[in-house]
Amino acid sequence: MSWKPMTVQPMMKTGDNNDADPTGSSFAATAQGTFDGVDLQQLAQHIATPFHAYSATAIRQRINELQTALAGVDAMICFAVKANSNLAILQLMASAGVGADIVSVGELRRSLHAGMPPERIVFSGVGKSADEIAGALNVGIARFNVESLDELHTLQQVAKAQQMTARVAVRINPDVDAQTHAKISTGKSENKFGVSIDEARRWFAERRQLTHVQLDGLHVHIGSQILSLDPFRLALQRVAAFWRELERAGHPINSIDVGGGLGVCYRAGEDHPVAAVDYVATIREALAGYQGRILLEPGRYLIAEAGVLLTRVIRIKQGAERQFLVLDAAMNDLQRPSLYDAWHDIVPVSDASRPMTRYDIVGPVCETGDTFAREREMPECVAGDLLLIKATGAYGASMASTYNSRPLAAEVLLNQGRYAVVRRRQHFEEMIAGEQPARHWETL
Ligand code: LLP
Repeated sequence: MSWKPMTVQPMMKTGDNNDADPTGSSFAATAQGTFDGVDLQQLAQHIATPFHAYSATAIRQRINELQTALAGVDAMICFAVKANSNLAILQLMASAGVGADIVSVGELRRSLHAGMPPERIVFSGVGKSADEIAGALNVGIARFNVESLDELHTLQQVAKAQQMTARVAVRINPDVDAQTHAKISTGKSENKFGVSIDEARRWFAERRQLTHVQLDGLHVHIGSQILSLDPFRLALQRVAAFWRELERAGHPINSIDVGGGLGVCYRAGEDHPVAAVDYVATIREALAGYQGRILLEPGRYLIAEAGVLLTRVIRIKQGAERQFLVLDAAMNDLQRPSLYDAWHDIVPVSDASRPMTRYDIVGPVCETGDTFAREREMPECVAGDLLLIKATGAYGASMASTYNSRPLAAEVLLNQGRYAVVRRRQHFEEMIAGEQPARHWETL
């Protein structure tokens, strides 16, 4: 989607949006002040800020781009549920034929609840407990992406006890630098994820001892917000060489899961994401000749730019050195800036032409880290102004907390001029549910 404040852009007419999008984002709004055909000023009259809004059209567009690029490939797209686990979003994914990449039993239950067929669910993560493994096995998920020998043995034991066979892919750590933020880089040997090719080779050599595990898949995921094809290409080349070696050694590989990681545009004019068609071309090229199924686990790519966080200015505070724009959204609603120093474009939903100024844009949480942007140049604001924090659809609401006893924000799905509240703002009573005074002291 594209959002241009009226202060700096002339009004666009509906259908006038086929010019190059100056934000660098591929989702073009059809008119100023609207997102997926919904007037945001009016919406914010009905729903108290801060709240997340997602464009169903933009999500479908992204799914479609990837599906189209994959035409002719035996592929399954499994949305990384951690990016946005709202049930309505998962339902939308399911109805478009997309499956789920899960990392906990909570995500499994959400996915099933949203109508995802178990045969479209894959389970990743270094810390699957025996209980979680048993539950996922029971419902018949497609595949476990296994990350350690201990996990492989646990899976064998659990499957044996349940008299079932678990389908397994080994997650390869290809020792590739994803050229992204250190906290979201996962494919280097120093990272906790996956196993080396040497270790995986030993697993396959001994695979016949695993009576209740069908080890016939490879998995790789090197990191997130990757803006270049090179790290993907390098990782896939290593995986492809290993697949060929395994096939020669008599180990059939029925699935290769290429993970997620495709980056998006957070900063207009600066971030230049890879197009889906080029990403898929890289996969096709690296895995040329491969006959089995290819799995993809995109999270951010499918939903980040389809979401915005709507927030109002509480006040402007003139500090000794800086001018602060204090919003009603905070780090508990969107952690990415405080956690990864992530940039998000922030623009006013305003029709007045105003001079530009610089603000440190902050929330009400009592931490200096509760800062969305430093020294950010933007049109002058006044208390009550409605602002958009852009590209918050992924890892926004799903990473939210109630820090400072702030309730979880509402989430709203927009679809061609209509809206549906898909999560209402948390009530105070819900926030404290489960807590109680220490009345009953127990001894062991
Ligand atoms: N597959 C696996 C095994 C993963 O661990 C992840 C993300 C994905 C797929 C999806 O990656 P994506 O396509 O969304 O890049 N909270 C961080 C991102 C953490 C990503 C963790 N794993 C952020 O806000 O940037």
